[in-house]
Order: sequence, then structure tokens, then C-alpha cells
Amino acid sequence: MASLPADSPLLSVKSGRVKAARRLARRVSRAESRLFLVEGPQAVREALDLPGCAVEVFAVQEAAGSHPDIHGRAMAAGVPWRLVDEAALASLTETVHPQGLVAVCRFLDRPLVDVLPDATSEGTGLVAVCADVRDPGNAGTVIRCADAAGASAVVLTGTSVDPYNGKAVRAGVGSLFHLGLAIEPDTAVVVGELQRRGYQVLAADGAGETDLDDALDEGRLARPTAWLFGNEAWGLPDEVAALADHRVRIPMHGRAESLNLATAAAVCLYASARAQRRRDRG
Ligand SMILES: C[S@@+](CC[C@H](N)C(=O)[O-])C[C@H]1O[C@@H](n2cnc3c(N)ncnc32)[C@H](O)[C@@H]1O
Repeated sequence: MASLPADSPLLSVKSGRVKAARRLARRVSRAESRLFLVEGPQAVREALDLPGCAVEVFAVQEAAGSHPDIHGRAMAAGVPWRLVDEAALASLTETVHPQGLVAVCRFLDRPLVDVLPDATSEGTGLVAVCADVRDPGNAGTVIRCADAAGASAVVLTGTSVDPYNGKAVRAGVGSLFHLGLAIEPDTAVVVGELQRRGYQVLAADGAGETDLDDALDEGRLARPTAWLFGNEAWGLPDEVAALADHRVRIPMHGRAESLNLATAAAVCLYASARAQRRRDRG
């Protein structure tokens, strides 16, 4: 493994590089530079594994010894490894125990047409669309869940939260680096593009006319599918739900009014994953 020169300077909170990275805590600075921060060994490792994603790594002195594989990845990729003191590292993170590593990364979202595979091509044919999802923890959890269920892309539409927000990135636990991500203002455009590519679009809606269990039992989830999820407070407006091919409700057997958005996403995405894998096994 390549090692750092013994005289590598230890950067403090006053360093220009640390100050520039710290500005990425603000959405406007992220948007201007198309850069964001990830913290902790797992996320930094994943960022380094994605070619061209990590721009630089800030690390306390012990980090290279504690995580030799991460240091090796950075050296191999030619990503600068900047030694910082504890205060400088703390100034770049939002968690109490960031475990000594923060990476500056390039934005990952791409135009919608680039992240959506045609439904007829190889792959699971599973996409999650979040319309006006505002809570960063929910957005990150949906991205993580979509990744786990084998989805190829997540699309954030309307006034959805910035997926590069620190809380969203942490909730995604590295899944942001695994699947396609698009950010589109107009949900109708996204639904139209999905349908044009051969996906059935299912709106997850507590008042939907179709019961999820019935759809699963009848084999209707085996088709390439995009799920549309709504805002935490007001759900999917009628005119948005009406764009979908079907509105699907997860049966509520108890007295809860609705499920949390990310929980509903887990139920729907896994129902599709199960149906599609059953179909693929014949
Ligand atoms: C917290 S819910 C919104 C609740 C809101 N009061 C409403 O009227 O829809 C957020 C999102 O989770 C999904 N969701 C929650 N419960 C659901 C259910 N029982 N069936 C289908 N989707 C559900 C929907 O996509 C919904 O837009």
C-alpha cells in the first residue's frame, strides 16, 4: 500500500480546503459546485469504489492505519488523502462519531433518460419515484430500500428533499452509490417516460382501488414496475395518482391511518421484487 509522506501537513479548521468542504453542508453551495460530503468508513469506501466519484478524502491520522483498504483505494485512484486534526474533521461532520473519515464526492444524479433502462432490457425492471418527499431520513431510507430490493433507479420529483443532504446520505448508507438517481421537477414527465419505456406505473395510495395482496396473487406485479410514493403529510394529490396505471393500497388490518412512507416503499418494492423473481424462476 502506498503511504503518506511523513511531512504531510495536518490541516486545521482554518485551512482553506477544510473551509471549502465545510460549505458543502449548505444546499446552495452543494448545488453550485455539484459536490457533497459523505462520512464514515463504509460510505467513503463505497464512494472510492465508484470511479470518478470521490474528489478528496479528509482523514484523521489514525484512519489510514484503522482502514488500510480505504487508504489503499484512495491511493490507487489518485484521490488526495488530506490529514486533518480532530477539530477539523468534526467541523465537516454532523455525527458525534464520524470515525475519522469524510469524502467530498461529485453529484451522482443523471438525466432521467440516462438512468431508466427500457423495461424490455435485462434487469429487474423496478424503479421507485418519490413525489414531493420532504423528509431526508425518508428519502435516504427509500433509496436504501430500493437498492436492497434490486431496483435500478430512484427518481425524486417535485419539491422533494435534496438527496445530498447529510441526513439523507447517512440514511442511504451507501446505496446512493449503487443505483441510478434522477431529480426531475415534473412528476407527469417522469410517469410519461416510464410508461413510454414499458413500465406499469403503480401509485402507492392508501385509498387506492387495487389491493396489493390481490395484485401480487394475480401475478400483476411481475411486470416491469415503477412505484410512485407521495408526500409524508398529504400523500399523492389526486391528479398525480391519476397519472398512474393503477392506484394500489397496502391493506391496513389494524387502526393505523397509513404507513410511514419508507415503510410503505419497503412493502411495495419487496412485493414487486418477489413477484419478478418468481416469474424469472419460471
Ligand atoms: C404517510 S403516507 C401519506 C398519508 C397521507 N395522509 C395520505 O392521505 O396519503 C406517505 C406515502 O406513503 C405511502 N403509503 C402510506 N400508507 C400506504 C398504504 N396503506 N397503501 C399504499 N401506500 C401507502 C403513499 O405513497 C403515501 O403517499
